[in-house]
Amino acid sequence: MLLGVNIDHVATLRNARGGIEPDVLTAARICKECKVAGITTHLREDRRHIKDSDVEAIRMLPHIRLNLEMAMTDEMQEFALKIRPHAVCIVPEKRQELTTEGGLDVEGQLDRAVKFVQPLLEKNIEVSFFIDPDIHQISAVSKTGAPFIELHTGRYSEVFGTPEEEKAFQDLKGAAIFAQNYGLKVNAGHGLNYQNVKRMHEIPNLVELNIGHSIIARSIFVGLEKAINEMKALCEG
Ligand code: PXP
Repeated sequence: MLLGVNIDHVATLRNARGGIEPDVLTAARICKECKVAGITTHLREDRRHIKDSDVEAIRMLPHIRLNLEMAMTDEMQEFALKIRPHAVCIVPEKRQELTTEGGLDVEGQLDRAVKFVQPLLEKNIEVSFFIDPDIHQISAVSKTGAPFIELHTGRYSEVFGTPEEEKAFQDLKGAAIFAQNYGLKVNAGHGLNYQNVKRMHEIPNLVELNIGHSIIARSIFVGLEKAINEMKALCEG
């Protein structure tokens, strides 16, 4: 499995003091040196961590794949069409939430989703929808033309190590196989850490894991390069 590193929380720390440190671009360059599959950033409506200028600067770095997480809004679509990231992951967004709490309801807004992804696909941007492991959502995504889903691993991560882990894990595994039978490629992410990531190898043909918080948290103690390389080894191993 490939590793995409979400560097939003480098910006969260920077913004805590309103200055320029730690520098998001330096983090992006370290990701590149570690040869990760890509960098992921979530440009939120309230710009609480990553800002437009950060995303634009990362996009200008040569030889690094940018996966832009964004809400299904006209503003974000315009931004994505302007900077043309390699990939876009469409996520739900509520201002009050601490982080992305649930998957996107694609089924409930299918017409909008179909229209939304069209111009992105025409620009050869790889589109995924961030959804819960739910067969209705998967079959809705299969009607949009998007080639990927990203499965929300939040529930699995939350109950990891408890009696509820097995059901949450089997839900993910079943959803991944169901999606692949529809011809969709499957990524996963949210809440993954150095322990719970290992079971992702039991899910067949996962393409990429997008991981942020646990890597940035560990980097405080061991440095970013080591934190990334340890996670990369777990993903690839
Ligand atoms: N994937 C998606 C779609 C997300 O919204 C997030 C959080 O921004 C992640 C992956 C990474 O989650 P975490 O920071 O918990 O690793």
